[in-house]
Amino acid sequence: MLEEFVRWIRAYYQRPEGVIHLHETFITDNEHNYIKDCLNSRIVSSIGSYVESLEQRICEFTGAPHAVAMVNGTSALHLALLLCGIQPGDLIITQPFTFVATGNAIRYASADPVFVDIDRQTLGMSPHALADFLERQTIRQSNGFRYHKSSGRRIGACLPVHAFGHPVDMEGIMKICSAFQLPVIEDAAEALGSWHQQQHVGTWGMVGVFSFNGNKVVTSGGGGMLVTQDPDLASAALHLSRQAGTKENYSYWYDAVGYNYRMPNINAALGCAQMENLKIRLQKRKELTDAYQLFFAPYKLPVWQSPPQGVSNYWMQALRFPTEKERNKFVQYTNEQGIHTRPAWRLLSRFPMFANCYTGSLENAEFIEKHVACLPSVIQ
Ligand SMILES: Cc1ncc(COP(=O)(O)O)c(C=O)c1O
Repeated sequence: MLEEFVRWIRAYYQRPEGVIHLHETFITDNEHNYIKDCLNSRIVSSIGSYVESLEQRICEFTGAPHAVAMVNGTSALHLALLLCGIQPGDLIITQPFTFVATGNAIRYASADPVFVDIDRQTLGMSPHALADFLERQTIRQSNGFRYHKSSGRRIGACLPVHAFGHPVDMEGIMKICSAFQLPVIEDAAEALGSWHQQQHVGTWGMVGVFSFNGNKVVTSGGGGMLVTQDPDLASAALHLSRQAGTKENYSYWYDAVGYNYRMPNINAALGCAQMENLKIRLQKRKELTDAYQLFFAPYKLPVWQSPPQGVSNYWMQALRFPTEKERNKFVQYTNEQGIHTRPAWRLLSRFPMFANCYTGSLENAEFIEKHVACLPSVIQ
C-alpha cells in the first residue's frame, strides 16, 4: 500500500516531486486586495474597520450574537477562562487529546487541567467520561460550587475540544454541565465550519474560541476569535484585550491588568478575504476526505468522517491503523518520500508540565494516540 499511496497522492495533487505538506494556506484574489487596501489606509494595528468586519462575518456565519477578535486562539482561550470566573487553583475539566495550547491557556489562568477520556468517533470529550468524573470524583458544597473530593479544589469549568474539526457531542456535554452547574468553554480553534445538530460549534457553551492560525480553514496569519451569547462578557473581553483602557477627556484610564490581545487590522484584512469563500474551502475539504476514503477502502483503513448528528469541517484528515507499528511505518515511509504525515497528538498528560494532573481512565485517547495518522490536509 505504501508505494501506491505515494503514487496516488502525488497524482491527486499533481505534484510529481517536491514536498506535500500537512497544511498549506489556500489564497485567492481578495487577500491581496484587502491587504493592499489596509496598507493604503495606514491603519494596520488594532483599530480598523477590517477587525469589526471580521467579527461581523463570524457572527453571521456561526450565528453567535457577539464575537471579539484576538491575536490568536490561545489568548482568546485565556480570556475565556478569566471571564468565566476561573480563580487561581481551580480545576478545568478537559481532554488530553488536543493541541498543547488548550493546556497552556488553562495554566495562564493559574488553573490546572483534569483530563477525562474522549469518544473514539468524535475525538472530543466523551459525555460518559465527563458524567462519570463529576458523579464519582466531585461533590457539591453549600456555596453552590462543585469540588474535587480528593484534592478539595474547585471545579471551575468544562473545556471540550472539537479535535481535528470534528464536532463534539455538545448536546450531551451541555446536559451534564447544566445539571452540574458548570460553565462550558468550547475550544473550537480547529472547527470553524463544523456543526452539531445544525448549531455551529463554539456557540453551545458560555464562550467559544476559534483560531485563524496559518494552518486553519480560514487564516488571518495569526488570529483568534472569542464568541459568546452574553453581551457583558463580550464587552469585558474587548476591554481586557485592549489593555483594559478607556478614553477619558483625551487621556486613557486603565482599570485592571489588561492584555495586548486585540487582533491587528492587517491580519483581519486577510481573514475577511478568506471568509468570503469559506463554503468553497469546506467543500474542497470534504472532497479530499472522500478521495482519501475511496483510496484507503480496499486496504480496510478507515478515514475519519463526520460523526452522526454533526457536520465536520474536515480540517485535519485522519486515518486509523490496526496497530501502532503499521501506523509508524506509514508515517516514516511517507515522510521519507516527501509526503508530510504525522502521528496523532501525544496526549497532554504525557508532557512534563501536565504529568501530575488528575486523569480518569484514558483508554480511548490512548488508543487514538497509538493508531491514528494525520494526512496531508491541503486544499488547492
Ligand atoms: C485545539 C487547539 N486549541 C488552541 C489552539 C491555539 O490557537 P492559536 O494557534 O491561534 O493560538 C490551536 C491551534 O492552533 C488548536 O489546534
